Amino acid sequence: MTGREARPLVVGSGIAGLYVALRLRELGLRPTIVTKARLEESNTRYAQGGIAAAIGPDDSPARHLADTERAGAGLVDRAAARVLTREAPARIADLVRYGVPFDTVEGRIALGREAAHSRSRLLHAGGDATGFSLEETLKHRLLEAGIEARERAVLRALRPGDRNGPVAVLSAPNGTAVEVEPPRPVVLATGGVGSLYLQSSNPAVATGEGIAIAFRAGALVADMEFVQFHPTAFAREGAPRFLITEALRGEGAVLRNAEGERFLVGRHPDAELAPRDVVTRAIQEEIARSGERWVYLDATGLPRDLVFARFPSVTSFLLAHGLDPSRERIPVAPVAHYMIGGVATDLDGRSSIPGLYVVGEAAATGVHGANRLGSNSLVEGLVFGERAARALRQRSPGGPRDPPTVISVPGRAGLGAPEETGLLDEIRSRLWEEVGIVRTAGGLRTALARFEEIGQQVEPARSEALAGTVANAALAAALIARAALARTESRGVHFRTDHPRPRPAWRHHLGLRRARPPAGRR
Ligand code: SIN
Repeated sequence: MTGREARPLVVGSGIAGLYVALRLRELGLRPTIVTKARLEESNTRYAQGGIAAAIGPDDSPARHLADTERAGAGLVDRAAARVLTREAPARIADLVRYGVPFDTVEGRIALGREAAHSRSRLLHAGGDATGFSLEETLKHRLLEAGIEARERAVLRALRPGDRNGPVAVLSAPNGTAVEVEPPRPVVLATGGVGSLYLQSSNPAVATGEGIAIAFRAGALVADMEFVQFHPTAFAREGAPRFLITEALRGEGAVLRNAEGERFLVGRHPDAELAPRDVVTRAIQEEIARSGERWVYLDATGLPRDLVFARFPSVTSFLLAHGLDPSRERIPVAPVAHYMIGGVATDLDGRSSIPGLYVVGEAAATGVHGANRLGSNSLVEGLVFGERAARALRQRSPGGPRDPPTVISVPGRAGLGAPEETGLLDEIRSRLWEEVGIVRTAGGLRTALARFEEIGQQVEPARSEALAGTVANAALAAALIARAALARTESRGVHFRTDHPRPRPAWRHHLGLRRARPPAGRR
């Protein structure tokens, strides 16, 4: 390989983007990585609990697979989950080779526990600073490998290219100095949509534009209705919604209501370690019942030394906010956390657009079903990142199959947008209120209509303007609302009061694809 196909463009710098870029380099290619903020700013950096892999003596990929399927509410793609759980240990070995300083006990890698895992299988680093350690280590390896890295370069559009891949349009964050890359393989590792929700654990960069841009370019997207909410973020008024890791419950912390009762006991056999969707809805109901704005995470029964040693980031955050978790209960409430859906891919990261690969949170591999098992996302970025890097190197053909239901979404190609923060605020509020943890048909319809209206308002008819944040946010939000409206059941993280139970007829994935615009319009 010597031409443009040997110079792939990787967009995004979380674990998936950094790892793919490194592996492409090791496979003999010359990737460039671009990212819209600083290299180290991504969702990965804030991951606390750990990264899941069946490496313990009492564990196996088969057990990991069974737990992943049980959490996924009947929708896990078994082939994808088998790949994930079988290949996870080898990818952990890669991280060790790169120098990730995993925590150890008596010379062996220490393993933590999270909800719905039947074994302790979370590798962690710096206690609860796992994401930070991963991000820093991979970033340093990337720079050492001499990989070209461009910060503050924002992907604005993907246009039709040639057999090498699409044409990527990039610009500075303020939209100036537009660069049009020649056609070449593009790997999207642009992450999820979390910060489009008013209450979110995600950093501001998680605005879903990679998914919106790929959809505009004609890529099949899937599972957009499945937005995972994390049950326990710090909920004190005026303080950031800092994540209080599930691994704290894995060590024995419990949830209590204002009356001090453990409201999950009797509700699910695993109580506080029930799957994340169950815990989130239980908290939401408790909040609605009590009229309070939070419930309490109680770690006061745990040894103080353990809590402070294992969770240094959480404990220092809490102490900085005047709360000692060994003495006081922590006010917590759910927040938007993870986009299960995204751009549909096959098992090698190929999207439905030739030469466009998608990895990490931006991809929908089907591996998480309707509810992701905690700590399966970092490892997903590695496992499918490795496979995408190899597929790209070999230029092997493929792509996702259409799921049984694919909705054709009318829409313009387009693009441009004045950056109106008022509109962005409205999108964030509506997603939280109307497309959140508990959904109704009426709320979804209202939200969808408004997102489409905003999309049209900010998208001029001219096709060559560049997509801006609001246009992408409105489109990503509309895709979520449309899919949630179409799925007339409740399953995993998607809960509707008008269809409160799963329906066998809906035991399949849901795709969305842009309808072809009428001739003469792009
Ligand atoms: C957590 O540490 O609770 C979050 C882990 C994850 O979302 O995978």
